[in-house]
Amino acid sequence: MSAEIIDGKALSASIKEDLKGRAAEFEGAYGRKVGLAVIKVGDNPASEIYVRNKIRSCEEVGVKSFSYNLPSEATEDELIELIDALNEDANVDGILVQLPLPAGLNEKKILARISPEKDADGFHAVNAGGLLLGLPCTKPCTPAGIIELIRSTGTKIAGKHAVVIGRSNIVGKPVAVLLLGENATVTICHSKTVDLPSITRQADILVAAVGIKEFVRGDMVKEGAVVIDVGMNRCDGKLYGDVNFPEASAKASYITPVPGGVGPMTVTMLIRNTVEAAFRCKKS
Ligand code: GUN
Repeated sequence: MSAEIIDGKALSASIKEDLKGRAAEFEGAYGRKVGLAVIKVGDNPASEIYVRNKIRSCEEVGVKSFSYNLPSEATEDELIELIDALNEDANVDGILVQLPLPAGLNEKKILARISPEKDADGFHAVNAGGLLLGLPCTKPCTPAGIIELIRSTGTKIAGKHAVVIGRSNIVGKPVAVLLLGENATVTICHSKTVDLPSITRQADILVAAVGIKEFVRGDMVKEGAVVIDVGMNRCDGKLYGDVNFPEASAKASYITPVPGGVGPMTVTMLIRNTVEAAFRCKKS
């Protein structure tokens, strides 16, 4: 089998078209643009690229971005003061703090400071807890994007065996919960899993979020599987996924490329979360 490529860029573009309309509707109704505050601390090169993409997507959709670049020596108090001000700012509907933060800054404490209503990333404990309990909440962007990518293939998720490799708070754990919410049978694998390939070979849906270049080889993929590659491994200036694309695409029915798969969807889900937060705030 030669897999069909799931075009994250195209799916992203069509969702952004819809969001453009909703952002314009918000502006028409409330006399201001939807606003997203983007905070970057330090000069991590990957973060620079991600933040630039997020700001560019805001512009495309008609969301106003408020960009804050703090030096790597910024203190926790300074960052918290900024978050407090943005929590109170009526022109800001969403706030994100780009991760990772420089060493010495307490990520948990800082993320907890963002008002859950303005938590565009869905990282706040209130939203993470809401996700687990099936309550209305802001869903984390990469996992939400992954569900959209799988849906776009027409694959019925219910009853399928979904295997997630990776157990991070940003991707592995929440995507497993979302897949469970879609009635998949879910297995989470990680670095301590014994005979991991024997489990991934059972996956109808395989989500690779390990952070290791081309970790998933062809012999780890079931014939006909839907393969979602979350990897963003930079090596000698080139971007590599967590999946060996030529090998896996020889087995899979559908596969996401890197770049152009999950990445664009993460950004689009961030904008969607922000637009939804803006409307929700006006209704409450
Ligand atoms: N760093 C890597 N992925 C993400 C993300 O989705 N959001 C934020 N804020 N930081 C990240």
